[in-house]
Amino acid sequence: MSGQQDLLVVKDLRVWHPIRKFLTVAGYVRAVDGVSLSVKQGEIVAIVGESGCGKTTLARAIMGLIPAYSGSIFFEGVDITKLPKPTIRRWYSAQVGLVQQDPYGAMPPFMTIKKIIEEPMIIHKVPKEERERRVRQLLEETGLTPPEDFLHKYPHMLSGGQLQRVAIARALALKPKLIVADEPVSMLDASVRIEVLMMFRGLQEKYKTSVLYITHDFATAKYFSDRIFVMYAGQIVEAGPSRDLINKPKHPYTEALINVLPDPDPGNRFTVKKILPGEPPNLIRPPPGCRLHPRCPYAMEKCRREELPLIELSDGRQVRCWLYA
Ligand SMILES: Nc1ncnc2c1ncn2[C@@H]1O[C@H](COP(=O)(O)OP(=O)(O)O)[C@@H](O)[C@H]1O
Ligand SMILES: [Mg+2]
Repeated sequence: MSGQQDLLVVKDLRVWHPIRKFLTVAGYVRAVDGVSLSVKQGEIVAIVGESGCGKTTLARAIMGLIPAYSGSIFFEGVDITKLPKPTIRRWYSAQVGLVQQDPYGAMPPFMTIKKIIEEPMIIHKVPKEERERRVRQLLEETGLTPPEDFLHKYPHMLSGGQLQRVAIARALALKPKLIVADEPVSMLDASVRIEVLMMFRGLQEKYKTSVLYITHDFATAKYFSDRIFVMYAGQIVEAGPSRDLINKPKHPYTEALINVLPDPDPGNRFTVKKILPGEPPNLIRPPPGCRLHPRCPYAMEKCRREELPLIELSDGRQVRCWLYA
């Protein structure tokens, strides 16, 4: 994927949720705390991390739905954190599509499937005839055929897998340059996850859309993405091409996540493996030094005291760990 242009560049982004007490701010949940990443044109980038590490907060900030505390988010060179809200709605919302985790929660229950897919095109004033043609095309492309069977149904009449297909159709309606997919298949039955991802990937290739694929599941990230960023406690701890990163993890946290992937040997599948002792830290007062140090089997004295940035290694990979400094 090298040589292609960056579409999205996130620089040292902090997104802190204020904790309000009466009329004052009593503190912050540092859900995203110094994240830098990039997505090239046509590339699929995965963000992998445990629940609570800040993935959805990052996704919502990139969509322009919640404000940044500091840092910048460049889309085609424009810093969207500096844009006024109406501009984000008018221009940026046509450039970036969103697929959310919970299909039933994300869809208005009283709208038909046709209306749901059509709505972004109505907002952006696509002519009626073009809209009708496009809705049918999108239903076909996402495998919801024949379209007549779906156009006039309501969300509760569809399965979770079918609804996520509708969500993908809606996200693609305006042919956006980027789709942010926040755990798009994690609430679906394991049996349909790969099917939906394969369909999504086919359309990603057809439309040449870039994708930011957010997941807690390394197995699908490996299958689906070109590059992986591993997130822990609001920060990126490792980044690199998916295959290299999975075959040769460098950060102790990545190593631990990969060690708990399901065993290919069915006989060993029932042993529940724990990622690491302990729990991810409280993001109101994260630990000093490296955020993983209370759980890390390799922690040294330095790790408890000194925070470090992502280090660029010679092979184009990045890692935030004193073992490599
Ligand atoms: N609106 C909010 N106000 C306060 N804290 C929040 C809010 N949204 C998320 N958080 C907290 O921010 C952290 C990251 O949450 P989230 O971004 O949802 O992580 P993930 O998607 O990785 O599970 C969690 O500690 C969560 O409780
Ligand atoms: Mg989430």
